[in-house]
Amino acid sequence: MLDVTIARATLPTSGALLLPVEEGAGAKAAAWAGLDAATGGAVSRALEAAEFKGKKGQTVTILAPGAGLSRVVAVGIGKLAELTLLGAEEAGGSGIAQLGREAAVAVAAEALSAAQAAHLALGAVLRSYRFDRYRTTEKPDEKPRLAGIKLLVADPSATESAWAKLPAVAEGVFLTRDLVSEPPNVLTPPEFAKRIEALEKLGLEIEVFGQKELTKLGFGAMLGVSQGSVQEPRMVVLQWHGASAATGKGKGKKAAKAKPIAFVGKGVTFDSGGISIKPAAGMEDMKWDMAGAGTVVGLMAALAGRKAKVDAVGLVGLVENMPSGSAQRPGDVVKTYSGQTVEIINTDAEGRMVLADVLWYCQQKFEPRFMVDLATLTGAMVITLGHEIGGFFSNDDTLASQLHAAGEASGEKLWRLPLGEAYDKQLKSDIADMKHVGGRPGGAITAAQFLQRFVNGKPWAHLDIAGMAWSSKDSATVPKGATAYGVRLLDRLVADNFEG
Ligand code: BES
Ligand code: MN
Ligand code: ZN
Repeated sequence: MLDVTIARATLPTSGALLLPVEEGAGAKAAAWAGLDAATGGAVSRALEAAEFKGKKGQTVTILAPGAGLSRVVAVGIGKLAELTLLGAEEAGGSGIAQLGREAAVAVAAEALSAAQAAHLALGAVLRSYRFDRYRTTEKPDEKPRLAGIKLLVADPSATESAWAKLPAVAEGVFLTRDLVSEPPNVLTPPEFAKRIEALEKLGLEIEVFGQKELTKLGFGAMLGVSQGSVQEPRMVVLQWHGASAATGKGKGKKAAKAKPIAFVGKGVTFDSGGISIKPAAGMEDMKWDMAGAGTVVGLMAALAGRKAKVDAVGLVGLVENMPSGSAQRPGDVVKTYSGQTVEIINTDAEGRMVLADVLWYCQQKFEPRFMVDLATLTGAMVITLGHEIGGFFSNDDTLASQLHAAGEASGEKLWRLPLGEAYDKQLKSDIADMKHVGGRPGGAITAAQFLQRFVNGKPWAHLDIAGMAWSSKDSATVPKGATAYGVRLLDRLVADNFEG
């Protein structure tokens, strides 16, 4: 992760300078700390020549303007009084993307509030993410050189406190992006579980269930998905005791603990479709069919990393969906951990089978205040909302509006879709308690209806992130590739509603 340092504002004499510019403040901004004078007016001349107005997201790069600087990147922030923290993040991300191979950058953040400056840095950090673990032939002069950002501000100590908790959030996002980017031959269910176990160092309590334990529990739905693969399944439970630790409750003596909040993730490390095999074109994308689980893990790491004052539990079901002589067949009937039986119609509808058992386990074991599950569950959701907004379903209006608000605040937007009995009827089976697919019409909704049969009336929301987990284009704070959509969103949900 980029190193962020904070200092009192003075004009740097070398390296690159990122210059946030308020709409309509062209020459005034160029005069920042004597910048325009020191460069003989080069900055204001360039801004004028580019017709730079300081509109949000607009950037202008001025190379070698003088005064020892290698480049100045002006980035528009719109009206300063209207600059949200999200807007500041986007300015930081858009700005840093214009830095080429600079080694050092200072940010002229003197006019920003402490929180705006900190979030601008966060946006820059998030945009700088890169997954280059498997590149062995890249020349040093092809790699980015930027190692750190120096935030130049009016009030360093206020900015330090505004920044204090943000690196943990960025680390959580990066962890999710790493997991989602890993190839499926490397990130198998056992390897995924191992990487989660390494998070004990953050103070998370971690429990891993293998084939044997899951068989003993009776996870018939999840094991049915896994049975065609040579990779063993895993379920991992991550617990963060941030509220009870803060009050001293639950330490040593058996104090009556408040119920935790719960997050559940689909972790299909590769989804070939199984016997109902997928077409070859694009099948490599199904390495990221574990993004729901990856997001839960990154979120738990963020909560632990920033010592969130909340008791939270994360559960992930990790399997590989493969065709083989031992694979599940369409027509099979399995008994789920809840006791309900399911007729398998299409072995490519595997995610809901994994979630069915993990959701049921979650509520039996933890009686959580609510459950939020995340899954790259249906192609139908990609058709519905595309790659701009995540779709969700909920049986609870309060939780739904909290999620929607967190989406707006974090920029990881959500839109609610309906549940209803008429959709549920599509799951009627001639042989078992239900079938797991309801046909093509309303495919994302009937998948959610299926999940709801494994939710025992508790507040619950299901986020179908199929369109959001991976991006084929850069955006302000998310380089193309694994997005970690959901980590910022749910961290916001927790921070705004369930801490303190
Ligand atoms: N992992 C897929 C859904 C998916 C598709 C995610 C495209 C991201 C991009 C899921 O397991 C799946 O295959 N769903 C099927 C369900 C169908 C067989 C009822 C689908 O959506 O086609
Ligand atoms: Mn599938
Ligand atoms: Zn899948």
